[in-house]
Parts: sequence; structure tokens; C-alpha cells
Amino acid sequence: MRNRIHILNGPNLNLLGKREPEIYGARTLADIEADCIALGRDLGLDVALFQSNHEGGIVDQIHDARETAAGIIINPAAYTHTSVAILDALNMFDGPVIEVHISQVHKRESFRHHSYVSLRADAVIAGCGTQGYRLALHRIASLITGTDVTG
Ligand code: DQA
Repeated sequence: MRNRIHILNGPNLNLLGKREPEIYGARTLADIEADCIALGRDLGLDVALFQSNHEGGIVDQIHDARETAAGIIINPAAYTHTSVAILDALNMFDGPVIEVHISQVHKRESFRHHSYVSLRADAVIAGCGTQGYRLALHRIASLITGTDVTG
């Protein structure tokens, strides 16, 4: 629990690698999962990755994290821009929350500029491609251990 991080991914991210690769890149969710588990090991974190195409599935995973995880990294995908339910669930989670977007949402359509999740997130990473998950893991490791790994 103390070092466990849940990485939650919202709708359509199961199709990473096939989905609009010019926006989201060529790497699959399985690639990201393997990468994050390995990096987590180096950082002393026990990383588990979840994905759901359903809003309620993500809410359930956040509830589960209340009992099992020290921190959450979340890419809520399209629910970022619509979901008060995900925001409410995150507001009941005590640990650090980092919001990740693969694309630079602020350079895209205006409906992607607003995020409900940002009202709760301790940090937001957008436009770094799938590297954003790695950056988020470094940051959440510092927040959990209380040390700033950037020195
Ligand atoms: C996304 C950006 C969202 O606007 C979009 O709906 C997604 C992915 C991203 O990672 O860039 O599904 O969260």
C-alpha cells in the first residue's frame, strides 16, 4: 500500500498503437505497462495499471485505490472533459494524484481545454507523449517519499 501506485486509463486508450498514431504514437498500452512496472521497480514503487472504457469502471478503480494505493496517476481520456463522477471519486482519495495526457490537449479542440480532474490533480502533464507516464512516476515517487528527486 505505502509504495503502490495505480495508473488508471480511460476510454479508447486500450487501442493505443492503433488509435490515431499521429496524435498518440505507436506504443501500445501493454508497452506502457511493462515500461512503468520496470521504472516503478527502479524507483521503489509497486505499479499496477488499469484501463476501462466505462466511467463507472474508473470510479470503481479509484474507490479500490482508497484502500490499496499510495498514489494515482490517471489519464481519464475523454472523461477528463466531462466527468464530475471521476472528480468526486478522486476527491475522496487521500494520496497524490497526477493527471497525464499523451497529447498536448491545449493545442487541440477547445472542448479538450477544460479538465474536471485538474481541480483535484496535484500535477498535470500533457504533450509529452507516452513519456508523460514516466515523468509522472518520477514526480509521484518524490511526493510519496517527501524528497524532490530533481535535487
Ligand atoms: C487524452 C486527451 C483527451 O482529450 C482524449 O479524449 C483522449 C486522450 C490524451 O492522452 O492525450 O482520449 O487524454
